[in-house]
Amino acid sequence: MADRAESETPRVGAAVLPDPGSVPHDSATTHVTGRSEYVDDRPMLRGELLCGIVYSPHARARLTRLDLSAALAVPGVACAVTAADVAHNLWGSIIVDQPLLVEQEAQYAGEVVAVLAAESRESLAKAMRAVRVEWEKLPAIRSIDQAVAAGAFIGAERSIARGDADAALAAAPHRLSGTVVIEGADHFYLESQAAIAYPRADGPMEVHSSTQHPTETQHVVAEAIGVPFNEVVCIARRLGGGFGGKESQAAPIAAYAALVARKTGRPARLAISKDDDMIITGKRNPFQIRYEVGFDGEGRLLALKAQLHSDGGAYADLSTAIMERALLHSDNAYCIPDMHVRGQVCRTNHHPHTAFRGFGGPKGVAMIESVIEDVARTLGRDALDVRKRNVYAPGRDTTHYGQKVENNCLPALFESLEARCDYRRRREDITKWNADRSSNPRGLSMTAVKFGISFTTRFLNQANALVNVHRDGTVQVSTGAVEMGQGVNTRIAAIVAERLGVPIGAVRVMVTSTEKNANTSPTAASAGTDLNGAAAAAACDRICARLANLALHLRDLPPERWPSRTAGLGTQPEAQVTDHPPAEPVRFEAGRVHAGPFSIAFADLAREAWLSRISICEYGHFATPDLGFNKLTGQGRAFLYYTQGVAASEVEIDRFSGEVKVRRVDLLMDMGRPINHALDVGQVTGGFVQGMGWVTTEHLFYNADGLLVSHSPSTYKIPSIQDTPRVFNAHLVFNEGNAANIRGTKAAGEPPLLLSLSVWTAIRDAVMNARAARSGGRDLVPMAIPATAERVLRALEPEAFAAIETR
Ligand code: MTE
Ligand code: HPA
Repeated sequence: MADRAESETPRVGAAVLPDPGSVPHDSATTHVTGRSEYVDDRPMLRGELLCGIVYSPHARARLTRLDLSAALAVPGVACAVTAADVAHNLWGSIIVDQPLLVEQEAQYAGEVVAVLAAESRESLAKAMRAVRVEWEKLPAIRSIDQAVAAGAFIGAERSIARGDADAALAAAPHRLSGTVVIEGADHFYLESQAAIAYPRADGPMEVHSSTQHPTETQHVVAEAIGVPFNEVVCIARRLGGGFGGKESQAAPIAAYAALVARKTGRPARLAISKDDDMIITGKRNPFQIRYEVGFDGEGRLLALKAQLHSDGGAYADLSTAIMERALLHSDNAYCIPDMHVRGQVCRTNHHPHTAFRGFGGPKGVAMIESVIEDVARTLGRDALDVRKRNVYAPGRDTTHYGQKVENNCLPALFESLEARCDYRRRREDITKWNADRSSNPRGLSMTAVKFGISFTTRFLNQANALVNVHRDGTVQVSTGAVEMGQGVNTRIAAIVAERLGVPIGAVRVMVTSTEKNANTSPTAASAGTDLNGAAAAAACDRICARLANLALHLRDLPPERWPSRTAGLGTQPEAQVTDHPPAEPVRFEAGRVHAGPFSIAFADLAREAWLSRISICEYGHFATPDLGFNKLTGQGRAFLYYTQGVAASEVEIDRFSGEVKVRRVDLLMDMGRPINHALDVGQVTGGFVQGMGWVTTEHLFYNADGLLVSHSPSTYKIPSIQDTPRVFNAHLVFNEGNAANIRGTKAAGEPPLLLSLSVWTAIRDAVMNARAARSGGRDLVPMAIPATAERVLRALEPEAFAAIETR
């Protein structure tokens, strides 16, 4: 498993940090003992109501009858909420286009039309069965092709270009074109969407929500119930996974609970079932990408033109931003001199698709990584050589959107992994193995990731934090970051502990609430620690400056005149300190504050400060500097930095069933100066395996009416422990060069998922190897994502399938 062989203990200035791998996740103990509290674990209050949702079973349908009278007559049923009860029945994270509740026409199967509330599960179930709803089915758009044909789009087409792709394509010695089809995937978080709203007679509505975006949830709730934002507080203690699925789509769930609470004056709880969750919520956007690539005989990419279409579903949600990230990642690790990528979100009658780990990144990267495989096979070269020929490197280090790839370690990562995983020998072994046509085909592929860290919408790159130091030297930190398993609380605690020089055990990260931190961005884009940690560090720095100045003052004062001896009597003048940097160096270390030979315990200094009426609490704000991406020109600095990595995957295909076994994965990921090695390993391996599910077995099936029918673990196959790589060597590389980010760390949340594309390209490699062994040719075999067993078998045996199907 992972090791940290690449570097010695990281250092800041003179201070040696505590072992970054030694601090467990702040919820580790309560998770494993089953005591971690999620929304639906909150005890029921007296009078609390349980809510259920009624939704359209059709992709597009006119509501012709909604009769709730029988449902309302069921004993224990308290109320029903419909569109007529909503103060402002429209919301949307980017484009405000989505009704909270259907008024006349449902635009997707799963669109909610009514909410019922009852005192018990039994009453609720009875009432749900008594709802009379009739729909008139209408023609629906169910695919990207249909949407394109109908001109049904969301937002304008986006385009990013460098050079003259048409001319470079025309002049290129070789050209290839193709289509990459990428289907959706469910987030499959373990805790379904949930919210409880507590109406307060004498205060704001308090909403506990499983949301990645408490501020947006607060705002959507306030608008739904028709009150100003300050009349709603949204609290997110922790999530049982979010993965992007609770970035926007938690908000309507909270609004439904709040509407019931508002109407009845009683607490209302909506915790939907897994099946309902999967049916109503949007997925990873399906994409269809047509490309044309020009290259020379050495495999050098000269030009790329690509048209990306995504299925946005019925409403905009985050799809336009997801498309933007896809366009920004369609170069991935490779410098292509002339490039033109265009992207258009399609409006279909599917659930509104949404953020999912990697956002648009994995789609752009899937396209270019498969293009590289095809270029290599066409030329009869090893794909790794083609990758190394095109990788960003000194002198060719500017992206198609004009951002320089700084602190670039991609070439070194490729070299290092090639040696570590014994790539060349294994390639030879695989070629020999595949020559025996009775054996199961094997494939090997190495792909890369260069994931841009920052929201591409500049104003989202800000955060605030409240740091309260107590008089015993312990600390409470509140930020807008939401803990969803990724360990953001533990990382923020480490940053604060390091800044204040106290043990991490002295720092408690508090429940996330819009009451303490308002106007926050979602915990997304992998930037949770970067943004919120930097805001907390800014607050700590001001506290430290005041404490440092006080320490210098105390150093020059006899102890009998210190505030702890005199403040109660008022016999001494108070220290007048500022939060300007101290005149002399003062160090905060191991629970003590040192100014030359003078040293005082942090807790004692905090108490002296309080007695001197010096604030030991602070609010910090952070705005990521130097971002300059212009969405209109498609040019500029979109990201503060890139998280980079490479992975080599080897797969074997069962030639009778098409099932894929991942025999071995070797992965190298640059984590900058990690804050917590163990958490990084969890993110890297977990993200990779989650991505493996997307590219192999996770297949969404809809019925003819557009209703998702694979809505449970029995019909939707996420990876199990059996599916994880038989050998998984994940190595994290330490790199001191990421000065741009807080503590020089790098984000780990989303980038590793993109490396799972190496499993997909390895499957293609195996299929094409098998076909080549048979025909001796170099056929390019397209393979949709997910490469399910059925698809793999069809690709291996097209003639056999054709014979069966024409019979
Ligand atoms: N890890 C766990 N365990 N659970 C999650 O829901 N979400 C991922 C990633 N890792 C997720 C996770 C996604 S989609 C993102 S954007 C980041 O965590 C968000 O957290 P961060 O910004 O603190 O990395
Ligand atoms: N991931 C990446 N970029 C983003 C996200 C996300 O979840 N949300 C907004 N921009």
